Amino acid sequence: MESASARAGSERPFYALHAEAYDLLITDPAGPWVDAVHETLAGFALSPASILDAGCGTGRHAAGLIARGHRVDLVDASAALLTQAASRCPTARTTLADLCTMEVRPAYDAVTCRGVLNDMTTDEERASAVRSLAGSLVPDGVLLLDVRERRGSRQRADGVTRSRQVDLAAGGRLTFAGRTTWSRGLLHVEETYELTRPAAPAQRSRYRFTMRPWTEPELRAALRECGLRIVRVAAGAGRRTPDRLFVVARQLSSSG
Ligand SMILES: C[S@@+](CC[C@H](N)C(=O)[O-])C[C@H]1O[C@@H](n2cnc3c(N)ncnc32)[C@H](O)[C@@H]1O
Repeated sequence: MESASARAGSERPFYALHAEAYDLLITDPAGPWVDAVHETLAGFALSPASILDAGCGTGRHAAGLIARGHRVDLVDASAALLTQAASRCPTARTTLADLCTMEVRPAYDAVTCRGVLNDMTTDEERASAVRSLAGSLVPDGVLLLDVRERRGSRQRADGVTRSRQVDLAAGGRLTFAGRTTWSRGLLHVEETYELTRPAAPAQRSRYRFTMRPWTEPELRAALRECGLRIVRVAAGAGRRTPDRLFVVARQLSSSG
């Protein structure tokens, strides 16, 4: 059954109706994450590696890893974002799937999952997503995660509305505004979008959703539960704000 986080892949305007604006609005450089993943894998003598980028979005980070010589496959629940990722990464196998319910087999040296596990808000969804990531790894395979950290996320959720405008193809212009508040361990996000195109009425949409950041102990427990050993927990790779964690964990081989 489709999870709530996967459903957002077709509902959230940013992932569906206005997916063409995703890379115009998310402009932090992909390089630091790509470097951190590549260097970590090289440290495990996994270069080149077979990698699954789980929740790949538009494939910005996958493209960087492919350029470093890795073989990368892609999975995401948003058809519109996955289409962009497929054209950016033509050598990648792409799968439209829900990380919480997809069938997995231990096929990859590494799984990357950046900025995705916060979208899963129930214990069940979080556990099943982490199970899928772990189950996609060969023995000794490496999981590399970027997640929102709870305390830093709470501090950043200031209730201030921030707005941006981006120009789209054919004279379109999208005005995006977002506001985030905090309540009981959840980030509550309100987004509004206004799309204008020449000689067409403005198209407005609004979307509300929640995200659930992680504490380090929660993450450690979830990974341990799936047979993974934490190798490293550090500040988010290349993140401009102090509310992210970069986590490296390893699938224990049967000899442990
Ligand atoms: C914030 S974006 C991050 C995209 C990309 N990893 C990056 O760092 O740019 C979160 C992504 O996770 C995907 N996602 C969220 N829940 C998912 C689920 N249950 N199954 C598959 N993909 C999911 C969304 O569709 C979206 O592409």
